[in-house]
Amino acid sequence: METFTVFALLLVILSVTTPAVKGKYYSGSHIVDVPTTIKQTHLHFFLHDTLSGDNPSAVLITKPNSKVIKENNPIIPFGSIFAFDDPLTVGSDPKSKVIGTARGLYASISRGSDLTLLFTGDLEFTSGEFNGSAIIVSCRDPMVLVKEMAVVGGRGKFKMAKGFVKNTAVYFNTTNGDAILEWHVTVFHP
Ligand SMILES: *[C@@H]1O[C@H](CO)[C@@H](O)[C@H](O)[C@H]1NC(C)=O
Ligand SMILES: *[C@@H]1O[C@H](CO)[C@@H](O)[C@H](O)[C@H]1NC(C)=O
Repeated sequence: METFTVFALLLVILSVTTPAVKGKYYSGSHIVDVPTTIKQTHLHFFLHDTLSGDNPSAVLITKPNSKVIKENNPIIPFGSIFAFDDPLTVGSDPKSKVIGTARGLYASISRGSDLTLLFTGDLEFTSGEFNGSAIIVSCRDPMVLVKEMAVVGGRGKFKMAKGFVKNTAVYFNTTNGDAILEWHVTVFHP
């Protein structure tokens, strides 16, 4: 085959397989009709965050190299970051039925003695009506017994979700940091 023919053939193939490049990464914005009604779903479960033992569900990734900072919050000093993969269960008993996992990161974000985390987690459910669906929670998480947290989005049946969490510590060990948290979640979703 002559070089020209090969080149022409290549051009044809390229024009078929390569989408037209117009130098834009966005489409035009347009108004859409949103549903006038949305669903509200209530979720209730317990999150088990375990730092102690041979099989912890949360592990330290990094912590600051400062003695002063560590003295304020010895377990979770300011600037330390943890990864977690916490089971979600129907009851406060860790042996009760597991219905999902909370996976994400939390970081210690208070310079004072008022231990505060930034919690960013994807909570995916593994059974029932919402099997495979998830809520995304991302917000300030102070170490108080009862707190409110924000549901900022979701996946699956919770796509486009918004909502809030009432998060209550039913168990917290101040020595090793292990916690069992009761979550009442109100989710608004399409
Ligand atoms: C949840 O969904 C997964 C994936 O579709 C499936 O394999 C699993 O059996 C389901 N679990 C329950 C308890 O329905
Ligand atoms: C808290 O953790 C410490 C150290 O692991 C342990 O000795 C103690 O029994 C725990 N306290 C409670 C109330 O579980």
